[in-house]
Amino acid sequence: MSKPKVIITRRWPEAAEARAKDLFDAVLNEHDQPMTKEELQEAMRTAEAVCPTVSDNISAEVLGAEPLKCRILGNFGVGFNHIDIDAAKDRDIVVTNTPDVLTDCTADIAMTLMLMVARRAGEGERHVRSRQWTGWRPTHMMGTKVTGKTLGLIGMGRIARAMAHKAHHGFGMKIIFCDPYPPPPEIIRNLDARPRDSIEEVLQEADFVSLHCPGGKETYHLINEDRFALMKRGAFIINSARGDVIDTKALIAALKNGRIAGAGLDVYEGEPKVHEELLAMENVVLFPHLGSASLETRIAMGMRAIDNVQAYFEGKEPRDRVV
Ligand code: DGY
Repeated sequence: MSKPKVIITRRWPEAAEARAKDLFDAVLNEHDQPMTKEELQEAMRTAEAVCPTVSDNISAEVLGAEPLKCRILGNFGVGFNHIDIDAAKDRDIVVTNTPDVLTDCTADIAMTLMLMVARRAGEGERHVRSRQWTGWRPTHMMGTKVTGKTLGLIGMGRIARAMAHKAHHGFGMKIIFCDPYPPPPEIIRNLDARPRDSIEEVLQEADFVSLHCPGGKETYHLINEDRFALMKRGAFIINSARGDVIDTKALIAALKNGRIAGAGLDVYEGEPKVHEELLAMENVVLFPHLGSASLETRIAMGMRAIDNVQAYFEGKEPRDRVV
């Protein structure tokens, strides 16, 4: 039996690409250049499966390609707001993602951002590297203590819970959260986490706010000028979710007028572009969407995407089907 043709839109770690080549008639993106709209449309016309990733725009136009051959999108990544899900449903295309395997690494990045921005680590590193450091002194580069403070989580899914675990059990932080679909009571108990009825309550109470909601229409600019105005003076915001959950202009204003003390960002509106004003701010830690970027996790993500596509072609229900 001939192997199904599977187009993988970007380079994957070697082990995952090798397995894809073994199982499928896999077409790899050797040069790792983002595929254009036209190339993605051609992929829809020529392959039974396409494995896109979070930086590909799988729009209704891409999914509208005719004649359509693609039956499944085996996304490499947990977030799928870059895929027009309604269009995929209309075209009867199965969509899968890669949850679980990136939970810890993404929570680690959120923790890193929180610690770095609170303790001025990025600024300190730049200070040393630019040879400005003149030596230890009691008032030099004082930051904010993290241990014992209140961490407010917007969204309490897998990554938020992993962050809560690290922050509570490792740093003695008090955890508050808001999620319309809260975790089971035993998980909340183990984290000694306190639910709040609204995002507003979390913002008013937290010393550090970390965003863990999905991207998309429902959460677009969830954190806007009015909500920044509710945050405690001296509080910090951490975003490892999706860039457009925060209104960038409102963030810049809140940082400039001192409403908040700093921000740790792994994701951006319109990334990979980053707003010039953010680039110039010392109290902002900026990462290039590193959430899941460990070798172990990226291999596991590739394997999980392959598992889903393989299951589909074997006539089984893919484990991580979202549509
Ligand atoms: C995802 O999987 O959605 C992440 O953003 C990639 O790190």
